[in-house]
Amino acid sequence: MTLEWKEDRLILIDQRSLPSKEEYVECLTHEDVYLAIKNMVVRGAPAIGASAAFGYLLGAREARTGSEEMFFGHMVSVKKRLSESRPTAVNLFWALDRMERTLNQLRKLERKGLIASLESEALKIASEDIEINKAIGKNGAAIVRDGDGILTHCNAGALATVDYGTALGVMRAAVQQGKKIYVYADETRPYLQGARLTAWELMKSGVDVTLICDNMSGWVMKKRLVDLVLVGADRIAANGDAANKIGTYSVAILAQRHGIPFYIVAPLSTVDLSTPTGDEIPIEERDHREITHLGGYQIAPDNVKCLNPAFDVTPWNLITGIITEKGIARPPYNISLKKMFE
Ligand code: MRU
Repeated sequence: MTLEWKEDRLILIDQRSLPSKEEYVECLTHEDVYLAIKNMVVRGAPAIGASAAFGYLLGAREARTGSEEMFFGHMVSVKKRLSESRPTAVNLFWALDRMERTLNQLRKLERKGLIASLESEALKIASEDIEINKAIGKNGAAIVRDGDGILTHCNAGALATVDYGTALGVMRAAVQQGKKIYVYADETRPYLQGARLTAWELMKSGVDVTLICDNMSGWVMKKRLVDLVLVGADRIAANGDAANKIGTYSVAILAQRHGIPFYIVAPLSTVDLSTPTGDEIPIEERDHREITHLGGYQIAPDNVKCLNPAFDVTPWNLITGIITEKGIARPPYNISLKKMFE
């Protein structure tokens, strides 16, 4: 499991140490959770969302003995702080809004009952995430054929969710149905989620995985080693434009050029109908050291200018379908996605 709530603390597997070490980080305050998200102890849109929900709960526990004014004022700053951890994955804001709604609906409750309700809500967000991923897996497995080669980018697996995964959940479900699949995992420069996390996770699950560098995916497609692309998303706009890990856009163009279906796999909590198109999705810019250094070793000249956007946006017209817990949305997405919320 990526995360676990234990009585009064959130335990996170430290994704920065994988695959060489399996270490855990304990979060006792909302600030600990803020730092864990910001510093990539936990990453991946649904996992960030669920962690933030527990961060909100920890914030409420911190102020449990305070006056009404102090308590509710504190909760406003807790939400603000957690929402500043990372800007792109909408699941973060979705989970915090859901926790705040629970708080507001029950604000008349005595403090102990209110905190117990927040705890139930955070646990519900976490357990629902696993059920949703399993439903996504079942819906997506229908398009996977026995013997398919599947390319994926970044990590949209158990580590990016509470458990099971989205894109990797589809692969898991296909394997459970007895299909033999061959996964090609892009290493995903600069943070190497594909090499460090996806390769590790799939090998652990006994799924056939081959690691490639990002610049090899075109050739792998040309050689017909892949029949399908399955990737996750951090935010899907109302028109179907999808933000995901930097490099996804290039993969989508390559897939179109080679006539290979390109699917986004994500829960509806990643769909943001209030963002009309991908142009309005905020893209996180990360530390340039991620590019200039590799494992602490400098690989670029001192003071070289760098650009390090953590995500890109794949336009809706390159996306064959969006696999969700409610089924597979097809273009035009402004209609099909909206329908899924009805
Ligand atoms: O920067 P990260 O590692 O948080 O980026 C993660 C991704 O881009 C994933 O593909 C996305 O969150 C989907 S996870 C099911």
